[in-house]
Amino acid sequence: MVAVIKERRVLDSGDRGMNTIVAEDLARIDEIIAGYPRVESSVTPALQDINAEFRYIPREGGERLAQHVGIPCSKVFAVATFYRSFTLTPRGEHMVKVCLGTACHLRGAPRIVDAFEKSLGIEIGETTEDGMFSLDTVNCLGACALAPLVKIDEEDYGKMKPSRVPKIVDRHAGGP
Ligand code: FES
Repeated sequence: MVAVIKERRVLDSGDRGMNTIVAEDLARIDEIIAGYPRVESSVTPALQDINAEFRYIPREGGERLAQHVGIPCSKVFAVATFYRSFTLTPRGEHMVKVCLGTACHLRGAPRIVDAFEKSLGIEIGETTEDGMFSLDTVNCLGACALAPLVKIDEEDYGKMKPSRVPKIVDRHAGGP
């Protein structure tokens, strides 16, 4: 079964896996932060840029940003945890969102979640060790007629069945 990462934390280990922040990443973080004035209103846009670059906000990013604008780290991380679009844990290259809204739930979405968990070897909220997939649930994707609905990146998979899951995962992983 694929091992799972929860946090990207090893600094300068020489390991360039998904669970690693290296000097190059820190330099990029500093470069992003340097583009913003040293005022508190820089926090949200700078976090957006860091999140977009790394697909999450490394702890070092929050700390360096706090230092840059001269506020406590806790304030920066309060913003980072307030917005759902930010995440403090690494996200995969492909984001799998299984809708668990009412319509999807009634049409078997929990079984779709099970199928993705089994196929990816991770649970909801986790990322595969190779950094390829993250799995999450949402409340309604706004296309209930297609229930049960799954969104992978920008692609919708309507009227999903558990049996389709392995093939869809393979397709996004670059398989046949
Ligand atoms: S409940 Fe799933 S798309 Fe609306």
